[in-house]
Amino acid sequence: LRALILVGGYGTRLRPLTLSRPKPLVEFANKPMLMHQIEALVESNVTEIILAVSYRAEEMEKELTAEAEKLGVSLIFSHENEPLGTAGPIALARKILMTSDEPFYVLNSDIICDFPFKQLLEFHKKHRKEGTIVVTKVEEPSKYGVVVYEEDGKIESFIEKPQEFVSNKINAGIYILNPSVLNRIELRPMSIEKEVFPGMAKDGQLYAMELPGFWMDVGQPKDFLTGMCLYLASLREKSPEKLYTGEGVVGNVLVDPTAKIGKDCRIGPNVTIGPGVTLADGCCIKRSTLLKCSTVKEHAWLDGCIVGWRSVVGRWVRMEGITVLGEDVIVKDELYINGGQVLPHKSIATSVPEPQIIM
Ligand code: GDD
Ligand code: MG
Repeated sequence: LRALILVGGYGTRLRPLTLSRPKPLVEFANKPMLMHQIEALVESNVTEIILAVSYRAEEMEKELTAEAEKLGVSLIFSHENEPLGTAGPIALARKILMTSDEPFYVLNSDIICDFPFKQLLEFHKKHRKEGTIVVTKVEEPSKYGVVVYEEDGKIESFIEKPQEFVSNKINAGIYILNPSVLNRIELRPMSIEKEVFPGMAKDGQLYAMELPGFWMDVGQPKDFLTGMCLYLASLREKSPEKLYTGEGVVGNVLVDPTAKIGKDCRIGPNVTIGPGVTLADGCCIKRSTLLKCSTVKEHAWLDGCIVGWRSVVGRWVRMEGITVLGEDVIVKDELYINGGQVLPHKSIATSVPEPQIIM
């Protein structure tokens, strides 16, 4: 079996993190976002994964090739000279995808869930039409592709980012498609959501499979943190031994074994601490992700934050309100930051009481 992952977007909504690393390499729960998907695909017997890349391809190629080798899956990098949207990359990989009659998986790279690949293949083979998309329920459907379908799953209409409420069932960004779908796609910038799915729905060739369990598009900071909470809760169900336990730990917390944690810290609920992170004595961290080699000094208090790689948070600092520090940021002692988005390599010396971008 094959899969194609769309990894070409600019990731602007995840700035400032994506100023340093392409979105698919940003670590979610201590693993590059893309690795969650690659691992799940490998578990479902996928042996070849096409990565449709248009932007920062070299960085991804370098990091992922080694990881994939370990998993025994071959990665094929399909480079776009210009961004081809969400359908064009499938046409670009036509030659590879046409070599088999088997259906192939297509994935957005910024979604997290318990990937249901096996069920999807089974469901798809049963209805025998050209494509199946995974759907999930959300509160705010206008940010997504909205799907209206019959009881058996047959999709009546697919509307990308509708202005008016149609339904709360949305496209989860996971598909399985027959090679015949390639007849509907041209080699040009093309949107699968706007130019391919509506036509397939009209022809009665597109089905929906409801996703059991959690789902989140983690392509923006607020959703990244919400997705982390859901992921950790699911980890608690499936493999609680992977969660961290110790003095001062509350709820679901993930800590890399190379992190150093000081005395009298209060960590959790919902915290991820990356490799090489240093937490000094008396810190309090909730609902936050601390990325690789960041440092939080004595008695700092963090809630709803993403701390970028190698950043340093000073003593007695208080940060909250979806504050995102880019790579290598310094926040001086005793400051208050609320909803700040701090660009890489900045040093902050005054408090930021209201949400803003700090350049
Ligand atoms: N190769 C390539 N080239 N990939 C691209 C390009 C491109 O030009 N443009 C976007 N992508 C990739 C992104 O990296 C991402 O993995 C995926 O395509 C979807 O793009 P997003 O920018 O994240 O779209 P969205 O989140 O607004 O909406 C999409 O995802 C929702 C679910 O999260 C749509 O598929 C919606 O229908 C869906 O509900
Ligand atoms: Mg997205």
